[in-house]
Amino acid sequence: MNMIDSAFLCLDIGTCGVRGIAHRVRNATIDRSAYYSIDNFDTVFALKSVIDELEQKIGMRFDNAYITGNFGPSLFKLSPQNTVWQNEHKITPGDIKSQIGKIDIPDGFYSMHIIPLRYDTPKIRNMLSPIGHTDRQLVSAFSALCYDSEYMSKIQELLRHAHIQPAAFYAPHFLLHSAFHDVKEPMMFIDMGAENTTVSIWTPRGLVWYDAPAIGGNDLTSTISTNLAISFSESERIKRNVANLKSNDMARFSPADSAYAFSCADVNDIVIPFYTDLIQQIKTDVTPQIEKYKPTRIILTGGGANIDGLVDMLSDAFDLPINVGTQDVVVRALADYIWHIQEPHRKKYLARIARIQRFTDKLSNIFHIKKRKQKQKIVPIMPSTLCFDMKVPETYTMFKSAGINAIHVDIMDGLYVDTIAGGLDELRQIRASWDGHLHVHLMTEAPTEWARGTIDAGADTIILSTNTAGLRVAVQNVRAAKRRVGIALNPDSPISLLKTILRDLDEVMIMAVQPGAAGQKFDASVLKKITALAATRKKYGLKFVISVDGGITDDVAKLCWNAGADVLVSGSYLGKATDFPLAVQSLLKK
Ligand code: DX5
Ligand code: ZN
Repeated sequence: MNMIDSAFLCLDIGTCGVRGIAHRVRNATIDRSAYYSIDNFDTVFALKSVIDELEQKIGMRFDNAYITGNFGPSLFKLSPQNTVWQNEHKITPGDIKSQIGKIDIPDGFYSMHIIPLRYDTPKIRNMLSPIGHTDRQLVSAFSALCYDSEYMSKIQELLRHAHIQPAAFYAPHFLLHSAFHDVKEPMMFIDMGAENTTVSIWTPRGLVWYDAPAIGGNDLTSTISTNLAISFSESERIKRNVANLKSNDMARFSPADSAYAFSCADVNDIVIPFYTDLIQQIKTDVTPQIEKYKPTRIILTGGGANIDGLVDMLSDAFDLPINVGTQDVVVRALADYIWHIQEPHRKKYLARIARIQRFTDKLSNIFHIKKRKQKQKIVPIMPSTLCFDMKVPETYTMFKSAGINAIHVDIMDGLYVDTIAGGLDELRQIRASWDGHLHVHLMTEAPTEWARGTIDAGADTIILSTNTAGLRVAVQNVRAAKRRVGIALNPDSPISLLKTILRDLDEVMIMAVQPGAAGQKFDASVLKKITALAATRKKYGLKFVISVDGGITDDVAKLCWNAGADVLVSGSYLGKATDFPLAVQSLLKK
């Protein structure tokens, strides 16, 4: 299936909530993504609300939906397979297929998804399995997600009512691990869902242990409902309002919820033993596995993760650091996973577009056809060429595909800064391959000479550095040549330095690192300068653009936008990204 030019929906359907993310893939960029959550037992209503809101946000209908979540009695089976060969054996896709064939699906169950968890690299010879076997004995593991056939038809019906045609179903635990794929250490996941509590251990090679102790939040609600003789939904409401694992004697005297006569203590007399038992049960099952695989931390997810005091109880029981995953961690991981597996399609698509472009360029050169300017959504992010291979055409295509209009070229002369980088030859080469805006950052002495050279090489904006001799003349010269001109203010330079020249500038670029190298850490003290500069601009009715250069990451970007920045330069964050359009999106103002 080709997902290019389409929009897809990722849904996490839990027993208590529905969360969704919309992705639009036209021109291989994510145009919009959104997150929505409702806690409502009426699943069709919840599904419909999510899909309506997301479709409205992205302005088009979804073509596919990918679904995760337990939404009822699904069965997640871990099936380790053992194979011993006589001689050395190279693993083939056929081996994997035959191992998958051996996975038994219980009667009356419908298999939705089988995912190889331990090896997905069949071409590798002499591959080591997690427990140290070579290719003579192979231990592999698969996850099989199965549904009770009868229940499955109910699920399909629910989805149909909400106009959702699912393309695939995925297991939450598989996705959870993919959400933390950068972490190369053994980890334990505890997912406290409404229907089930599941526990798994992952090593860098994949899932090694999985268990579903089978009691979940709904069992607790039922117990409250029976003990206090109230309805299930009333118990659920009280549980959410007052469940608290920290002892709070005063709560005994205050009403839990004005609508009910129960106190926090009444509810917690049930809640605390429930979680104490559950944790004890997890501990009994998992202790030998912890000794074997030595997880270094616990990732806690699911609705139960919000219960006040649960983290303390778990860290007392396991003596491991605990990270609580955000509410939408599973659905975000699903979207990420789908986006990731589509990468080859996107690459092919981009290459095809580039080929067509080259062909039409050729034709227009031959027939002197006037090029029509392509309408494009422009993003206020400038990639720093220092961190990209500017010699290959794919880099420029990738920039365009993410809506990049301007690129930032760093030039360092070895005098103003210690490093030598860029130069006029390189600039000319970039100019020849890039028809967008060229933003040149001069970290050089002799700004007048360098500015002249850069203008001749085709720069559209020239950013000069402070504390250089002849800066004022250089600014005037750039203006006279009708190019945009700006000044880069180093982290330790105050904005008062620009006082007398501010009116002549098109741009002030706030340096958030010492000039000279990419990959340095953002200096948060410059945020104050951005705010002050934005205030000065407003006060005097000036029009200069405020850009920020150095150490930009998704987290830092937010701070810069809030402080009043208009454009951001990013080097290593974008340069290292495996998914460039996604990384660009993550830097944008939300
Ligand atoms: C630093 C350069 C920056 C640099 C940005 O001297 O002016 O443009 O390339 O790279 P990062 O984002 O990695 O700091
Ligand atoms: Zn720069």
